[in-house]
Amino acid sequence: MPDTYSPPESGMAADLLAGLTATPKTISSRWLYDRRGSELFEEITGLEEYYPTRTEHAIFQDHAEDMAEAIGPGAVLVEYGAGALVKTRLVLDALEAPRAYVPIDISGPFLRDAAAGLQADYPGLDIHPVVADFTEEVDLSDAPGAEGGRVGFFPGSTIGNLENHEIVAFFRAARSSLGRNARFLLGVDLKKDPAILVPAYDDARGVTAAFNLNLLERFNRELGTDFDVSAFAHEARWNEDEGRIEMHLVARRDTSVRLDGHEITFRAGESVRTEISRKFEFAALDRLLDQAGWRRENTWQDEKGYFAVTLLV
Ligand code: AVJ
Repeated sequence: MPDTYSPPESGMAADLLAGLTATPKTISSRWLYDRRGSELFEEITGLEEYYPTRTEHAIFQDHAEDMAEAIGPGAVLVEYGAGALVKTRLVLDALEAPRAYVPIDISGPFLRDAAAGLQADYPGLDIHPVVADFTEEVDLSDAPGAEGGRVGFFPGSTIGNLENHEIVAFFRAARSSLGRNARFLLGVDLKKDPAILVPAYDDARGVTAAFNLNLLERFNRELGTDFDVSAFAHEARWNEDEGRIEMHLVARRDTSVRLDGHEITFRAGESVRTEISRKFEFAALDRLLDQAGWRRENTWQDEKGYFAVTLLV
């Protein structure tokens, strides 16, 4: 079996077909992260143009004491998506005697590896992985901290990949599954000059382009589709009205793909939106949080005001 083989994920073909038969065409950003995509994203986080990862990292480092004091001792940290172990360690190191760590992820094998790696370095920590899709309400009744005081953790501004109604739904679900006296440590990327934003999503070395185009390669690998990858170009667009960066794949010429007995055609210049990455203003963020029953209690930022980490109650 070739090294690149992975079993098709359930729902992938149906989701792709739904997106490509919609107007305008879209592809869900959830498919960006196969093994190759995760490697490329890792590479993106180290790029000069991609400021979010290092900026958020610096905020966690510079304000660790303050955050630890605001959160207090004995925290049960519940992480939504366990992809950010570097940041998890920063927070666990800063906190005073954290009691438990509850990573929630859709990938069981990934969770097991992550938990094992962390357990070796934090022998006293109660690690309780939960395999679940955190875009839906997660049952945490058997996880530590059911008596109250859990701290949700969602770094990296991954929340920015969601539409407004999805953000509200996410925080409502988090509020009910985290339980009484919960708090939430959230990383959000902030609105800034498009001259900084666009290159962060369209880097000179073309790593982000490869990350975006890997979507089509992934479908060809896993679904046996026949996308002509060379017929598409990566584009990063700043959408001023929505306050977000969008990744698109734009057809360089007329092209088509066969999928489940359907033939989908793309006209030259037509684009497929593959990701939204919202850049927040606090007023807009607060309105969404308010609808879900949360408010910002503490907010920490870098000097340039590029990124914020905020503690919600
Ligand atoms: C991991 C979703 C936060 O939106 O900045 C990076 C993904 N996309 N470059 C982001 C991403 C293109 C990233 N998130």
